[in-house]
This record gives sequence, C-alpha cells and structure tokens, in this order.
Amino acid sequence: MNLRIILAGGSGFLGTELTRHLLAQKHSVAILTRSPRLRTDGATETFWDAKSPGPWTSLVDGADVLVNLTGRPVNCRHTEANRALLMSSRVDSTRLLGEVIAGCVRPPRVWLNASSAAIYPSDTQQPVDEAAALAEPVLVRAGFLGEVTRQWELALFGAPAPKTRKVALRITLVLGRNGGVFPVLRRLARFGLAGSLGGGMQYVSWIHLADFLRAVDWIMTRTTLDGPVNLAAPNPVRNSEQMRALRAACSMPIGLPATDWMIRVGAFLLRTEPGLLLESSRVLPGRLLASGFEFQYPELSEALSDLLRPSVS
Ligand SMILES: NC(=O)c1ccc[n+]([C@@H]2O[C@H](COP(=O)([O-])OP(=O)(O)OC[C@H]3O[C@@H](n4cnc5c(N)ncnc54)[C@H](OP(=O)(O)O)[C@@H]3O)[C@@H](O)[C@H]2O)c1
Repeated sequence: MNLRIILAGGSGFLGTELTRHLLAQKHSVAILTRSPRLRTDGATETFWDAKSPGPWTSLVDGADVLVNLTGRPVNCRHTEANRALLMSSRVDSTRLLGEVIAGCVRPPRVWLNASSAAIYPSDTQQPVDEAAALAEPVLVRAGFLGEVTRQWELALFGAPAPKTRKVALRITLVLGRNGGVFPVLRRLARFGLAGSLGGGMQYVSWIHLADFLRAVDWIMTRTTLDGPVNLAAPNPVRNSEQMRALRAACSMPIGLPATDWMIRVGAFLLRTEPGLLLESSRVLPGRLLASGFEFQYPELSEALSDLLRPSVS
C-alpha cells in the first residue's frame, strides 16, 4: 500500500536514508525542514521552524504516518547554550507535532518519534531491554542526555493524540556508509588509530542502517507495537571488541589505543563530549525480537564487512 508519510527532520543522516528507502517502496514523502530545497526524486520539502505552527500543518492532516527525526546533533560541547538547543529542538518539536495532530480531522494512524538509547544508564554492564527498564526504575540514566531523552518521550507520550499509535524509537549508534559515526571509525582504522578507547570495557550498542530502515518499516505496519522500542542489534559489544572487529574488517593489524585522558583532551580540541565515547550502553532489542523481527546483521563483524564492501550504486 502506498502511504503518505510526513518526515520532520528528514534532511539529516537518517532522514536522507529513510527518504530514499521509502521512495523506493513508492510511498510519498513530505519533509519538514528549516531549509527547504527543490528536489528531483519525488519527495517534497516544506518549511517549518520546529517551534510553531504554519502552513505545513495542513500536510499532517490526512497523512498516514508521521516520523519525527528532529534534533540538534549531540556531537558538540554541551555548553549551556548547546544544552538548551539539544533539549528544545527535540522536546519543542515533539510537543508541537502532538498539538498539531490533536487538531487534525484525520490524524496520522502512527507517529514514530526519534528517541535514544541514552535513556538507559551508562554505568551498568548489565544488558537492558524495554521491559527491564520499566520494571526497574533505577534503569534510567542520570545526567543531561538521560534527562533530554526522558523529556523527549514525555512530550511524545503526553501528546493529546489518542487516535494515533505512538512509538518512541530508542535508537542506538546507527552504522551506515554515508553518515553518522561509521565514516569516522573507518578513517581512524585506516590510519592505524582504531585501538580501544579508555580501556575498552564499555559496551557499545549499534544497529546496521539496513536493519534500522527495515525496523522502521516493521514498526509502521505492526499495529500492536506502541510505546518505546529499542532499535539495537541483538549483540552489543565491548569497545575493545568493536575496535578489533573494525581492524579485522579493514585488514589493519595495528590500532593505537587512546587512554581516558587522551580522549578527554581530544574531545576538548574537537569541541565534543568525551562521554559519547566512554559511557557504556548494553541495550537489547527485546520488543523487536518478541514481535518476530529478524535482523539481517545481528553480528558486528558481518555488519562491518558489509559496510566496507565497495558499494554497487
Ligand atoms: N544517527 C544515530 O546514530 C542516532 C542515534 C541515536 C539517536 N538518534 C536521533 O535520531 C534523530 C536523527 O538522527 P540523525 O543522525 O539523522 O541526525 P542529523 O543528521 O543531525 O539530523 C537531524 C535533523 O534535525 C534537524 N535539526 C538540527 N538542529 C535543529 C535545531 N536546532 N532545531 C530544529 N531542527 C534541528 C535538522 O533538520 P533541518 O536542518 O533540515 O531543519 C536535521 O535534519 C536525532 O534526533 C538523533 O538524536 C540518532
């Protein structure tokens, strides 16, 4: 069935990949962005400021699906000004979309809103899935990114939109050829710099882009899935293992390790946060697996081999 899909924040890494994927399935895609451009692929771009209603709201009424991927990138120094933007770009855009849906005559049947595995604690080595976190309130992250994610999901689940199925996509590190962290890791590996980070004991939760896109399709059409859903491969790895798999996939025998203090200095110079590399995340896709979803890339080594294969297009 061809669906009419509204994609807020559709100009970024995941939005670009998702647009291509949805258009290939003959869905119609209308992107909401602060900088609309003319396109030739069949998708449309419409201006919104992610804060206030405007002419774009008429697109939401009668759409089948709303996907919201809006959010200032977390890969920056978390200064006071940046923190305010990190929070407001996520929470205000989500709250606004909820208010717009509430005013629709024909609200979208389903609303997929980005969220993050940063809602889970970073100081535990224990695996967590959605159910474990619900049963055990301590399984929620302290600190700024945990708080952002909590407010983000509150804006989604508190929205006055009872006829719309709401899903929070608790996204882990998405590995794709053309964006996010993978191109950086590949460059590090080729320069012999892909050694373990800060001791390498911290877990990394990840998902191959192909599985991310397949999971979005799956969730859009599974009417029983609502609430939070982890978008994570079933096999998170320790950082040392991640780097070993990366070196093997790149056929690079050496990888200089970086100690904790080297990462802190490097992060300062690169104007980012060391916690993004040092904190642990061991997240399992409990609800996806229980609903019958099968991963194409459950193991990191297979995912990396695929991403390093010369692309056909
Ligand atoms: N990629 C990952 O591995 C990953 C992991 C966990 C969670 N996530 C979450 O998934 C979502 C999409 O990720 P992504 O990697 O595609 O992010 P991205 O490439 O940074 O794109 C984010 C989008 O948000 C919009 N945006 C940025 N700053 C904004 C601001 N200050 N106010 C309003 N809109 C703003 C941009 O749209 P315009 O500039 O066109 O308006 C952009 O297209 C984000 O919310 C991210 O936090 C991603």
